[in-house]
Order: sequence, then structure tokens, then C-alpha cells
Amino acid sequence: MNENLKDFIKPGSEEELLVNQIDFSRLPRHIAIIMDGNGRWAEQKNLPRVEGHRAGSKSVREAVETAAQLGIRYLTLYAFSKENWKRPKREIQTLWKLLKDYLKKEDKVLVGNRFRLKVIGQRDKIPSSVRNELERVEENTKDFDRLTIILALNYGGRDEIVDAVKRIFREKEHDIESLDEEKFSHYLYTNHIPDPDLLIRTSGELRVSNFLLWQIAYSEIWITQVFWPDFRKKHMLQALVDYQKRERRFGDIHPHEK
Ligand code: FPP
Repeated sequence: MNENLKDFIKPGSEEELLVNQIDFSRLPRHIAIIMDGNGRWAEQKNLPRVEGHRAGSKSVREAVETAAQLGIRYLTLYAFSKENWKRPKREIQTLWKLLKDYLKKEDKVLVGNRFRLKVIGQRDKIPSSVRNELERVEENTKDFDRLTIILALNYGGRDEIVDAVKRIFREKEHDIESLDEEKFSHYLYTNHIPDPDLLIRTSGELRVSNFLLWQIAYSEIWITQVFWPDFRKKHMLQALVDYQKRERRFGDIHPHEK
């Protein structure tokens, strides 16, 4: 096993079996996660939905730690979609509170581990106390690059594309004929971030839910039935093992067929 992982993976565990199947020279650079199923997890346990979100924030910590230990460079988490505003007020307040608590608690962990935090989404509607906290942590971590954690907040994939078009129009100085995919991508919230190689969705739904619509064009998708609060490092390892079994051709054919 990779020396650095010795303290992180228990000998003889299921995780160890999985780690031994991973080729560390072919890891995805960027993993994006649709964290779904907090509500159902809580309902199954006869708990209020907000308890699902509370348990889900623990899974966030574990996912961040796992990604970092494995050497993943970018981790994007869909934490609050534009559509989530339709939920009851109390649930919305809890989600923002959990995020604020996470930032307060994890601030030192992020800096200590040289993790960078970045927010994508329309910031103007994020409650100002949370936005201030987010921007403080973004500023404190902006020079780090061991792992970049990208939080999608008040995020919508279609909004992101429309916002990019608006910026292009506003800047006016373009030769519009020279606009291509590469140049367009610089106007997205994810400018300078490579596209996700792997998209994980928990709780079994077969949808992309307006998440990173442009960026996931060639991502491998891995869906698990597990609810987000039950998502542990073994699940991320399972996703990686599966990812490495796939052949990514980006629309090309296999070289031996040419
Ligand atoms: C989906 O479950 C999850 C969310 C809408 C929010 C994710 C938020 C967290 C994990 C907590 C805080 C975040 C951070 C970054 C600390 P759902 O409520 O849609 O579940 P359901 O589909 O079963 O109802």
C-alpha cells in the first residue's frame, strides 16, 4: 500500500482491499459530488430532515479528508442549489447555519492542511453573514493548492452559462467569431479549474440536477444507492476502483481499432 496511507487505512479492512486495487498514477484530478439523500436518511430514522443535513456535514468532512489523503486535487460539492430555496424556511436556515459552523470549525484545518476553498454560484443571494465568512476563508486559503474544495452554493448550471454569456456581452471587445469552447470556459465560475473526471451522486437518483452542465460533458458518472449521511471513505474508494476500470475515449475509438 501507498506509504502515506498507512495511518488512514486499517490493515485487513475492506478499505485496504480497495486501496490495493487503485493505480495511483491514474487518479481523477477532479471529483464532483451531488450529495443527495439527507432527507430520506432522516425520514428512515424517524428524525427531522435537518438531522439528515447535520449528519451530512460529517460526511463532508470525511469526503474532504479522504480526497486529500488519496491525492485528489479538486473536490466540488453541490451544497446548495438554486432550487433549494423552495424548501421550508427552517430547513434553509439550518443548511446555511451548518455551512457557517463548518467554516468556523474547519478554517484552521483548511489552512493547516494547505487546502484552498472556493465558492461557485450566484453569491448575491447567499445570506450576508455566511458570505462574509466564505469570503474570509477564500481569502485566507487563496495561495494553497494541495486540495481545492469547491462549494457550489446558490448554484445552477444554466445560470452559470447565462452569466458567462452576459459577461462576454458586457466586455464587448471580442471578436465573436474567434470564441470557442476553450475561451468560453474562461467565463464560467470554474475558470482555471479542470473539468471533473468523475461525478458521484448518492441516493440512487439518475439525474444531473442542473449541476456543472458544461463541465461534466465527458465526466464518468458513478451513482450509489447510499444516502449522503452514510457516505464513507470506502464508498469513495469503490467509485475510484470503478472509475479506473472504465476506458475514457472522449468520443474517439480505441487505438487498436484504428
Ligand atoms: C441533499 O439531500 C442535500 C442537500 C440539499 C444539501 C447538502 C448539505 C449538507 C451535506 C450539509 C452542509 C454542507 C456543508 C458543505 C458543510 P436532500 O435533502 O435533497 O435529501 P432527500 O432527497 O432525501 O430529500
